[in-house]
Amino acid sequence: MTQLPAAQGQPAQSALKPSDSSKALYGGKSTRRITVRDITAAKERGEKWPMLTAYDAMTASVFDEAGIPVMLVGDSAGNCHLGYETTVPVTLDEMTMLSAAVVRGTQRALIVADLPFGSYQEGPVQALRSATRLVKEAGVGAVKLEGGERSHRQIELLVESGIPVMAHIGLTPQSVNAMGYRVQGRGEEAAAQLLRDAKAVQDAGAFAVVLELVPAELAAEVTRTLHIPTVGIGAGPDTDAQVLVWTDMLGLTGGRVPKFVKKYADLRQVMGDAAKAFAEDVVGGTFPLEEHSVH
Ligand code: KIV
Repeated sequence: MTQLPAAQGQPAQSALKPSDSSKALYGGKSTRRITVRDITAAKERGEKWPMLTAYDAMTASVFDEAGIPVMLVGDSAGNCHLGYETTVPVTLDEMTMLSAAVVRGTQRALIVADLPFGSYQEGPVQALRSATRLVKEAGVGAVKLEGGERSHRQIELLVESGIPVMAHIGLTPQSVNAMGYRVQGRGEEAAAQLLRDAKAVQDAGAFAVVLELVPAELAAEVTRTLHIPTVGIGAGPDTDAQVLVWTDMLGLTGGRVPKFVKKYADLRQVMGDAAKAFAEDVVGGTFPLEEHSVH
């Protein structure tokens, strides 16, 4: 399950100089674990990169072998893996267990784990205690937390303590009870606040920032303004990186998915059809056959 990422292929790296392409986060030659320094260098090279969520070792190993350089153990695990309605109920114990599985399933990707709701809002010391568990017990290379100006003290202490932080601004799903699921940064005042949030997390030492559900033009402006990479989800084409929730992009999520999702497969259909075929074989007596039997 944890072989080297043999199937990374040779994706187009036309935006990079030939001397840079071997260092590329996606399609590069290095098989060692990616670090936040590699992420910083990618922004300097102008390289775009992909990030996917993962919540278990087997799925993570597939993405690792496909060459996905950064995986997020998102608290979207709450609604995409654990059966909760939102991310709010997810606990630090659950995030630690899921993150450890994703680390075990990968060899190359940088693994970033979400600090769940309630594990850092009390202040920097609580954030440090929570993040330390994810780093020590699960072995992740970085943590992510939500909030711009309001979270800058937490980010500062984590970074001072040697824990790399990815920030998350725009729509912050842990605040769904206060803000709902609405586009953020629309209008002059909201756009100015988003820019202040982006600068605050950069100044606090975050190595990257997720921009969720913000107008494409504003995301482009933030990306031009910051020297750290922006990771867009529903934020248009001009961010440095793009992230999708894996169950959305592979068509496993039931019901409606957001407009910004591109569906690359229909796993729900594939898995349902396979389950029905198995059930029909069992009921009809055509499984197991002699070739599946031991004597
Ligand atoms: O939890 C998550 O999956 C996330 C992404 C949507 C960025 O935070």
